[in-house]
Amino acid sequence: MKLTEQQKNRVEDLLSRMTLEEKIGQMNLESPSIVGGFDVPFEELIEMMTDGRISQEEFQKIMSTATRDFHEEDIRAGLVGAMMGDDPVKANELQKIAVEESRLGIPLIMGFDVIHGLRTVYPIAIAEAGAFDEDLFERTARIAARESRAHGIGWNFAPMIDVARDCRWGRVSEGPGEDAYLASRFARAKIRGLQNDRTSPENYVAACLKHYVAYSACESGRDYNTTSMSISQLHNVYLPPFKAAVEEGAASAMASFNDLNGVPCTVNPYTLRELLKGAYGMDGFVVSDANGIKECVTHGIAEDDRDAGIQSANAGLDMDMGTHIYKDYLKEAVESGAVSMEVLDDAVRRILSVKMWLGLFENPYVSEEAIARYAGKIPAEHAETALEAAKKSIVLLKNEGNVLPLSKKQKISLVGNLAASEEEIIGAWAMSWRNEDCVSILEGLKNSGAEVSYYPCGGPEGEINADEIARACGEGDVVVAVVGELVSMSGEASSKANVELPGKQREMLSLLLEKTRAAGKKLVTVLMNGRPLALGWEEEHLPVLVEAWHLGVQMGNAVAAVLTGEENPSGKLASSFPSVNGQCPIYYSHPNTGRPGSKSKFTSRYLDAPFDALFPFGYGLSYTTFAYSELKAEEDKDCLRVAVRVKNTGDRKGTEVVQLYMQDVTASLVRPVKELKGFSRVELEAGEERTVNLELKKQDMGFYNNQGEYVLEDGLFRIYAGGNSRDCLCAEIRVNF
Ligand code: BGC
Repeated sequence: MKLTEQQKNRVEDLLSRMTLEEKIGQMNLESPSIVGGFDVPFEELIEMMTDGRISQEEFQKIMSTATRDFHEEDIRAGLVGAMMGDDPVKANELQKIAVEESRLGIPLIMGFDVIHGLRTVYPIAIAEAGAFDEDLFERTARIAARESRAHGIGWNFAPMIDVARDCRWGRVSEGPGEDAYLASRFARAKIRGLQNDRTSPENYVAACLKHYVAYSACESGRDYNTTSMSISQLHNVYLPPFKAAVEEGAASAMASFNDLNGVPCTVNPYTLRELLKGAYGMDGFVVSDANGIKECVTHGIAEDDRDAGIQSANAGLDMDMGTHIYKDYLKEAVESGAVSMEVLDDAVRRILSVKMWLGLFENPYVSEEAIARYAGKIPAEHAETALEAAKKSIVLLKNEGNVLPLSKKQKISLVGNLAASEEEIIGAWAMSWRNEDCVSILEGLKNSGAEVSYYPCGGPEGEINADEIARACGEGDVVVAVVGELVSMSGEASSKANVELPGKQREMLSLLLEKTRAAGKKLVTVLMNGRPLALGWEEEHLPVLVEAWHLGVQMGNAVAAVLTGEENPSGKLASSFPSVNGQCPIYYSHPNTGRPGSKSKFTSRYLDAPFDALFPFGYGLSYTTFAYSELKAEEDKDCLRVAVRVKNTGDRKGTEVVQLYMQDVTASLVRPVKELKGFSRVELEAGEERTVNLELKKQDMGFYNNQGEYVLEDGLFRIYAGGNSRDCLCAEIRVNF
């Protein structure tokens, strides 16, 4: 985020003319509040519905009498700096008040959760990351930026770049998986996509890195839970994507809910001031997560709201999301000296700088033309990119007997009520999509020209219909079962202790298996889920497994393309899949132990489950096969030059994600058995063989110690290359730095 001298001067000039109240106003992020004749606060009303004290119908009846308060009076008085929302007409109305009626005319910045697309919803991040395609990551973000601006949103609460290794945590769906290196490349690409097309103010937004930091390491995968780790672990695994994104110019960040080694991230001067703003050099601002400041009282780190506000401001938290604590307490805190004017000015300077950089002072409004652009269906080129992303995110897990691809002549019995759903393809954290843009799997198969009959039979919730299952198996040539999770089963506040297929879907698959076998027909299982699932039973019993995640608006067309062979799958897993629940958390880049898991008794293993992942990070099959040979690693000044021969040994063209891993064999701290250090998407014709060259910079071969220092240690390294994190060739090399 670079400002011109003139812009910097404008920020300073404004700052010098602001009252204390106006400065605090800039630090206040509002969302429209619900007002109505309820006897209880809105939050409690929600709880009453959730815990069953009132029915959904009763809730809706009460809500129909409610109105929304957009805080116009406060905006006019300069007491609001930022606002949430995705309605461009409302955004213009509120902006007009800020620009024309507030004393200094400082525009609002409008923020919204545009996590994997606004109107053009593309795959959830855990799926998209598996495409291992930076150019794609950037292009989908660019579309999100344009659509956001056309909806009045200048600030996206994205990318979510929490490295997540425990699939019990519902929010694994929102982030780029378990690996720090892939997440860092993903983060950089997303920043470029969201922020870098400055050819018009309609083309870029301010990104907001979240959730800073280590939120994903919540104990036992339970959302909001405590987080405890060594400084080395923090720096090697959880911080890298944030550091990378700041280097790429990220304009803002969101402090996470969790405590980290006892200090909530909302009030953590080490992570906020020392690292993010100090060592990494972030010049934008930091916002709390929703209600985050207030929760510091519940955490037991602040005595009351005032104390929480003071601690937050002093730690470097620039903006308050949703609590009004800054609004209510900062003035007194500054006047009494509990918070210095320097702290306040620093926060306001950062917020104004982002607004200046966004061009909000010159272009505060959404044009009529931009609003009209999204009045109907999404633009065709946006849908096309969403389709490309969806196709590239699909992972073929198992294809026994090469049942896939299906031939055009086969009549498909499509089973499972997820298959016809438009709502359930979207994924967690998407709120502005429209049914008219969504293609269900049923519709996608029809679009592809396949002959398909649909039998709901059952889904993630409720009963299954055995008669319908029998009919489905009787009538088609091949049965395609779509099973998985509802959108509401992943995302925030959706942790699960059981990550197997929910409901009676296993029973349904069991019946389908029995009936298709008896009828001599094939069964294909398509998974539609927001987290890695424990698929031990499915892998053992089912012949074909396709991991299709929640792929967004074009899901149906993408799944159809893969099933019919129009697209040869190339997606890989950005997160390891366990066999059974008890293996969580499971990830490939674990430290070696003194007794690595093996078949012998006294090793790091389970008595009743395998010790390694069912499907490891980086895994994914194709309709062709690839063979690796001749791995070489040679030192060349500042880097290692790694070369490996990759051959397409099948009979059709395919794309392979060639992955480069490293192990620091002996170091002053125990290092992971493998760490991803590079990758390349390579397209090969049938029979074609090519040398794939990858560079590993020596500078990237070090690690952070427990003092938070980055160290490069001479010694033996193993270099691995392969098509997933488990099946690799290995070469050894001694490196002196
Ligand atoms: C979530 C954030 C989100 C914020 C605003 C919070 O509950 O944790 O990811 O950006 O709400 O909607």
